[in-house]
Amino acid sequence: MLSSSTIEGKYRNKYHEATKHSAISVQLDPNYVDATTQPVAFKKYPKFFRRFPLELDNPFHQFLSLTSAITFQKQYRDGTHSLRVQPSAGALYPTEIYVQLRGISGMLDGIYHLEQDSSTLTLIYELIDDGLEGYFSDDRPIKGCIFLVSCVYFRSSWKYKNRSLRYCFLDSGHHLGAIEASAIVSNYSYQLLFDLDRAALNDDLGFENKEFVAAVAIAGEPKDKKAVRRLRSPLPFVSATDYFEPNLFIEEGYKQTFVENCEKQPIKQPKFPFESSQILQAIQRRRSARRFNPSPIELNDFLTVCTALQQPIPSENAAAFEIYAVVQRVTGMQSGLYKIGDSNYCLKLGDFHDRTGYLCINQAIARDSAAVFFIVSDCGNYQLALQQAGFVGQRIYLAAENLKFGCSGIGAFFDDETQAFLETDLNVLYAIAIGNLCDRDRIK
Ligand SMILES: Cc1cc2nc3c(=O)[nH]c(=O)nc-3n(C[C@H](O)[C@H](O)[C@H](O)COP(=O)(O)O)c2cc1C
Repeated sequence: MLSSSTIEGKYRNKYHEATKHSAISVQLDPNYVDATTQPVAFKKYPKFFRRFPLELDNPFHQFLSLTSAITFQKQYRDGTHSLRVQPSAGALYPTEIYVQLRGISGMLDGIYHLEQDSSTLTLIYELIDDGLEGYFSDDRPIKGCIFLVSCVYFRSSWKYKNRSLRYCFLDSGHHLGAIEASAIVSNYSYQLLFDLDRAALNDDLGFENKEFVAAVAIAGEPKDKKAVRRLRSPLPFVSATDYFEPNLFIEEGYKQTFVENCEKQPIKQPKFPFESSQILQAIQRRRSARRFNPSPIELNDFLTVCTALQQPIPSENAAAFEIYAVVQRVTGMQSGLYKIGDSNYCLKLGDFHDRTGYLCINQAIARDSAAVFFIVSDCGNYQLALQQAGFVGQRIYLAAENLKFGCSGIGAFFDDETQAFLETDLNVLYAIAIGNLCDRDRIK
């Protein structure tokens, strides 16, 4: 059913339309940037804030750390990049994480910024009778953790301009997925909250127009019935980049693409077909495949990925997307286009790998993969759909890693041509390729 926010008739969303890639648009604007002008990728609060280094032999600290840890240092021509548990379009990492702790023994009740490069909690606000719950529709105090994922959009718009509106939300969905994985490893139940008073939170957290709240993940339980009030004093603005260029399209897009008070559903917890020790390993080893060995994967493995990605998203907000797969190299499955569901339904048979490679802007990872998942949506609640697409993308990465094959998110594709190929009225938000790694690309 269409939501009231559908902007220009059937399944059209003005922000999606305005950020489409086509064969012409990528020639006109190939996204070349001078790497030396990249804004810094780590936010730091001033040194007078109190800091608490995370100790990895402490299980609770490990839980926090794994939501955002740096897992690999990669050499590029322009220097070393710190790659993390979550992937990010262009490795630009627009997302930051804050965590509110309440009633955790040995920790002050407060809101902390998680400094990802030093694995340190910076206490930015001490709680009294106030807290983040005051911005939620259920404002009872949560004993445990509230993670808040924000986007520092300039880190991404620096390169991807208006299209980075999509990448900010996809990336924040991936970061929520990293929180999910860490919670599973530590055996915490959790839920995601998208519908909150963003405008007030952005003001009170001192984000100005340079950073915005994307979503919240709660790992904890309501303690009693007393309401928590909003922050008693706003936080100062602290810049998350060393310089800033405003992008009004993104600032407007952030405000216009979320439908508040959206439809509610009962929260269901997912059940993954992996042990938590396997998930821990997958978190630590996850990388994006840079190329695939064009050979088949087993049917059971493909179905395991499908089971993982279809698990319920533990949130009151219903899923706002559908998933297709172009099956290219799966033993025992005919190549073709499938709709992923309780039983995977074949829409058309054929060998589409060259077509898929072309649609993903001639990327060999799409052409040589075993399968490419495409996440589509009516874009009624555009921001929610993109975040959920990134969240599911993280599940696909971790499932692929568990099965010892590779995965890569693909945010760059020819929008209209891909949609026409999928023969759907829904808009294409994200592609994710899985397949066999070349032997020398495997991390031993
Ligand atoms: C939203 C999103 C879009 C991406 N798009 C592409 C893409 O079009 N092509 C590609 O090769 N990699 C793509 N990636 C993968 C990133 O390049 C990769 O995550 C980043 O370089 C960090 O490396 P890592 O995932 O190995 O940590 C994408 C990742 C995300 C999260």
